[in-house]
Amino acid sequence: MPGLTIGDTIPDLELDSTHGKIRIHDFLAGPADYVVIFSHPGDFTPVCTTELAAMAGYAKEFEKRGVKLLGISCDDVQSHKDWIKDIEAYKPGNRVTYPIMADPNREAIKKLNMVDPDEKDSSGHLPSRALHIVGPDKKVKLSFLYPACAGRNMEEVLRAVDAVQTAAKHAVATPANWKPGECVVIPPGVSDEEARSKFPQGFDTADLPSGKGYLRFTKVD
Ligand code: BEZ
Repeated sequence: MPGLTIGDTIPDLELDSTHGKIRIHDFLAGPADYVVIFSHPGDFTPVCTTELAAMAGYAKEFEKRGVKLLGISCDDVQSHKDWIKDIEAYKPGNRVTYPIMADPNREAIKKLNMVDPDEKDSSGHLPSRALHIVGPDKKVKLSFLYPACAGRNMEEVLRAVDAVQTAAKHAVATPANWKPGECVVIPPGVSDEEARSKFPQGFDTADLPSGKGYLRFTKVD
């Protein structure tokens, strides 16, 4: 079984969190809400502490994009609350204002496809550093899967949100290393004739040896 992946509806789980009970679909209640749901192997661990502090530092940027942050790990709520004091002391000014859900039975991490097959403690498998960007339709748009040994880059998470939201808004795709404001590409299923009406601002077709004209760039707001 491949587990939760792009295009699947995020399971409507209800879990305790540092902000009280959270039901994931209710958390995504606004018509334009996105959620970034991210797991970490364990509380009071070094890489996780740097990651959650970094995420707290980016909270305002996510909010500007209509994105709610939602952490999860297999430690309990009291442990999360105690750990948040360390996280905020490590990066003064980065307040952890987003909720962290508790999954002490490790059932939710299975349903969310966030289990690390290589990391175990006495109670079984730990969560991986998984992250799902979930859209307003409650479907997974993009997932990251990092092992315990590699901390995530929050600038890349933000860039991935920008790419997903730009693609959805304009029915385009974004090229390698794309950043907001740069040219986007017109997807292969769109004919040149359709592209002329969809993109009245025009587009440039890269002149490639194959002559196939499939690499077309345009600008969107
Ligand atoms: C960490 O967050 O530092 C970590 C957690 C589990 C295994 C290795 C590192």
